[in-house]
Amino acid sequence: MEYFAVEGGWPLEGQVPVHGAKNSALPILAATLLADGESIIHNCPSLTDCAAALEILSCLGCRVRREGETVVVNTACRRGHTIPDDLMGRMRASVLFLGPLLARDGAATACWPGGCALGARPIDLHIQAFQALGAQGRSWNGQLFFHAPTGLSGCRIALPIPSVGATENAMLAACGAAGETVIRNAAREPEIVDLARFLRAMGASIRGEGSSVITVEGGRALHGCEHTVIGDRIVAATYLSAAAAAGGDVRLTGVEPEQFSTVTSLFRDAGARVDCAPGEVRIRCGGRLTASGVIRTSPYPGFPTDAQPVVMAALCRGRGTTVFVETMFENRYRHVDELRRMGADIRVQDRVAVVTGVETLHGAPVRCTDLRGGAALCVAALAAEGETR
Ligand code: UD1
Repeated sequence: MEYFAVEGGWPLEGQVPVHGAKNSALPILAATLLADGESIIHNCPSLTDCAAALEILSCLGCRVRREGETVVVNTACRRGHTIPDDLMGRMRASVLFLGPLLARDGAATACWPGGCALGARPIDLHIQAFQALGAQGRSWNGQLFFHAPTGLSGCRIALPIPSVGATENAMLAACGAAGETVIRNAAREPEIVDLARFLRAMGASIRGEGSSVITVEGGRALHGCEHTVIGDRIVAATYLSAAAAAGGDVRLTGVEPEQFSTVTSLFRDAGARVDCAPGEVRIRCGGRLTASGVIRTSPYPGFPTDAQPVVMAALCRGRGTTVFVETMFENRYRHVDELRRMGADIRVQDRVAVVTGVETLHGAPVRCTDLRGGAALCVAALAAEGETR
């Protein structure tokens, strides 16, 4: 599809099931490599990134099949430890296959990962974790080679920042390391907790997930298992933003509201009625929102950087001024120029964006800059008068 055409200005009404979390499904698909046999993963969303992850597994000899939102991965014929360049370039999360390959084969090869252009997005912390576990790494001609000739050994890893991906890769590699690995300053995101639940169902010994210290007792033989991926809290935040922006009455199911309470409480404070119950959330909103003061993105349980663009879109029509401070990625305001085309009043300096609410947004031709930035344009389009392409 070349474009979405959105005729905005209508309130939204209805019930939407939120699909499984992309950021949970991707490390879980990578983790299937750790087991011998078949893993069954329910609520695995049908998204291009998940399709790329399944392609990587196929290229590594796994038998993979999808039936609706359920994916079955059989590793019985697994072979090789090189991730093809085109798949590695397609998404950032391809890097999560390196940890399991190192754990299984003591070797992993890939080029640098691709992904949304949100800034530099280095993988030095992933590499440092592998090295701490005993892998030797070298880079030549755009390729990364990791090799652990005598296997991985449990160790202490202290992350300088709680990187989600580096925490996941360290957990995945540590499952194949002899002895205990302790990861300090670990990321605490719900997706980390989901990955730990999956690994435990495979027979791994892990504790501390959801806190900043995660301990893995590695070296166990892991087996296939059955698991249901958690609902996508960022998709939920996107739908909430759409309803808050356009007005209406929307109920979301299949998500745990406490996983995005920073977003629900923000919209409540901005004037929407938000009712949360286990597994669902309902938002009712009429009229313009009130601006939200300062919104600073930070690692979980702080305000999610992935929700910044969609919430910004919702607050373009807020009464008053909202200040966003993006602390996670240096280049995450690429949607701002596009929102301006729709009449938004936003000024950006470095990591700060000042949004002064306007009475109306108008439809315009705009361009998606990255995944969540594109979602933000859809949110704004739903609240704008006229057609947005
Ligand atoms: C994950 C999410 C992404 C989300 C991000 C932050 C997945 C597939 N993607 O990305 O949607 O926006 O968390 O919540 O789960 N960093 C380094 N060196 C590293 C790794 C990271 O400096 O080796 C920096 C990054 O540049 C960034 C910060 O750490 O500034 C946080 O990144 P990280 O938590 O690693 O994000 P991802 O795992 O890439």
